Amino acid sequence: MDVQRGQPLVVVSDVQKHYGDFQALTDINLTVNRGEVVVVIGPSGSGKSTLCRTINRLETITSGTITIDGKELPKEGKALAALRADVGMVFQSFNLFSHLTILDNVTLGPIKVKGMKKADAEREARALLERVGVAQQADKLPAQLSGGQQQRVAIARALAMKPKVMLFDEPTSALDPEMINEVLDVMVGLAQDGMTMIVVTHEMGFARKAGDRVVFMADGLIVEEDTPEQFFTAPKSERAKDFLSKLITH
Ligand SMILES: Nc1ncnc2c1ncn2[C@@H]1O[C@H](COP(=O)(O)OP(=O)(O)OP(=O)(O)O)[C@@H](O)[C@H]1O
Ligand SMILES: [Mg+2]
Repeated sequence: MDVQRGQPLVVVSDVQKHYGDFQALTDINLTVNRGEVVVVIGPSGSGKSTLCRTINRLETITSGTITIDGKELPKEGKALAALRADVGMVFQSFNLFSHLTILDNVTLGPIKVKGMKKADAEREARALLERVGVAQQADKLPAQLSGGQQQRVAIARALAMKPKVMLFDEPTSALDPEMINEVLDVMVGLAQDGMTMIVVTHEMGFARKAGDRVVFMADGLIVEEDTPEQFFTAPKSERAKDFLSKLITH
């Protein structure tokens, strides 16, 4: 049991992000506590991916601060590599290395970045592959797996770095419908195990089952925040009402 559960882990303060003249994030303030699962939803172009990418510093911010476990995001170098290891990221496209086996995909980071011994890394990787339900696939190449299996490997790969927080950016939106649940089930399991998670998804079932909070974004702003139940049944803003009506009818 994490004794610090409930304490702030990710703190985004007054963040602005510009791409040239275009402002992609405006006045973003968001605190994610240890063990909390925050679901981010909103229309296309609202800044959801940008927010995720700034949190693990794939993108720089124009102003404001982001801290992970009390430490401000370093600009570059070793400190940045260490921080990246604290933040696991799973994308819509699985981004597995196509020429490496499933096992090697999962052990690469621990061996190269954390200096783990191969045998130890492999033992942990096999346990993680077991946890996400793809242990039988360890010696195959990514192309030999289904999309749902590949995405579960991507989750195992992120977990292998022992991150403090996991970011998911629409992890099921590139999957065939029958594979969505096998990935969501793994994510629900992670949430139940107490992992701190920020999840960009429009899967309301997941948000209701595993989400502590929904953050609704539009035009680079956080427009409203609420419990999943409140948000889906009684959204407050017109933007959210409009968005949800479209989500339900399509
Ligand atoms: N590298 C970039 N250069 C310029 N503009 C960008 C860049 N990346 C994103 N943007 C713009 O920033 C805005 C937010 O994009 P972002 O990808 O964060 O949206 P999103 O909410 O994730 O959308 P989607 O639901 O389509 O994934 C969009 O208007 C996008 O065009
Ligand atoms: Mg996106």
